[in-house]
Amino acid sequence: MKAIVITSPGGPEVLQLQEVEDPQVGDDEVLIRVHATALNRADTLQRKGSYPPPKGASPYPGLECSGTVLSVGKNVSRWNIGDQVCALLCGGGYAEKVAVPVGQVLPVPPAISLTHAATFPEVACTVWSTIFIMSRLSQGETLLIHGGSSGIGTFAIQMAKYRGSRVFVTAGTEEKLAFCKTIGADVGINYKTQDFVARVKEETGGQGVDVILDCMGASYYQRNLDSLNFDGRLFIIGFQGGTTAQVDLRPLLAKRLTVQAAGLRNRSLENKAVIVNEVEKNVWPAIAEGKVKPVVYKSFPLSEAAEAHRLMESSQHIGKILLVP
Ligand SMILES: NC(=O)c1ccc[n+]([C@@H]2O[C@H](COP(=O)([O-])OP(=O)(O)OC[C@H]3O[C@@H](n4cnc5c(N)ncnc54)[C@H](OP(=O)(O)O)[C@@H]3O)[C@@H](O)[C@H]2O)c1
Repeated sequence: MKAIVITSPGGPEVLQLQEVEDPQVGDDEVLIRVHATALNRADTLQRKGSYPPPKGASPYPGLECSGTVLSVGKNVSRWNIGDQVCALLCGGGYAEKVAVPVGQVLPVPPAISLTHAATFPEVACTVWSTIFIMSRLSQGETLLIHGGSSGIGTFAIQMAKYRGSRVFVTAGTEEKLAFCKTIGADVGINYKTQDFVARVKEETGGQGVDVILDCMGASYYQRNLDSLNFDGRLFIIGFQGGTTAQVDLRPLLAKRLTVQAAGLRNRSLENKAVIVNEVEKNVWPAIAEGKVKPVVYKSFPLSEAAEAHRLMESSQHIGKILLVP
């Protein structure tokens, strides 16, 4: 089969389409002919050599895909050859075929095209497992999403609105903020021109928000603590603003705050299967009702993976970028 190989750690040019061996399907796995895969920010880190795939995972990038089942392992009963599916991957989506543990395979959501189904597994599993399962965001609570126009952000806005939250977002341009409002964001904050702590306080009568989904880490840590309400929860999913910070801990104690962080890819297969199952139960109905829609900025042929990475690193996009083999 053909796959995108990272020829050495480096810039987008190290992503090369090459002929490689087909993946072998294990007893508890499903072999998928990839119809589409979507980029995630982590793919750019893997390309640079700072986010290696877990032991036993495919060396090729790609954390999610949609496609058609080509074969199933002997312990797999739910799926049959020819089924259209999408899947959360440990890697290997930038290829014509990928073998996936059966617990990470999902049906294509109703009324969604096979191509667009590739946009959901990674964002749905990340957002559901963090702000909904671990931070227990509930109806009537307020949520601040940093990077509202990202792949993660555009999904989180829609899902949080569906579940009855008031949603605040940050983004770096007015155009991105305007888009976030069209998909449900209530308050948009331009992080380049505005102080998000002040805006959050102003919009919440001085209280702060209940939950924050953060992709910045160190550079926003203090400001995130300062933006939370009593019993607030900060969930960190990315370190775009670094990993080391000096912090005044007093807001943690004074406001009874909870800080958590987690990555999806390094969880156990059992743990991922639980999350995928919860996503099918709780997120797929929202997609079926048309309340959560795919947000696709641009599609590239698989052979142009380098161009797709350049686009993601330029941060011009809104939502997801697709690769189609
Ligand atoms: N822990 C996990 O399991 C997990 C899983 C998936 C994703 N993630 C993380 O989630 C984040 C989004 O991922 P993605 O794949 O959706 O990437 P993406 O579409 O490339 O989004 C990156 C986002 O970061 C925003 N950003 C950059 N600097 C910012 C700042 N100073 N303040 C606020 N926002 C800022 C960008 O906003 P502008 O374009 O407006 O500048 C953009 O929306 C990444 O950090 C990724 O590593 C974590």
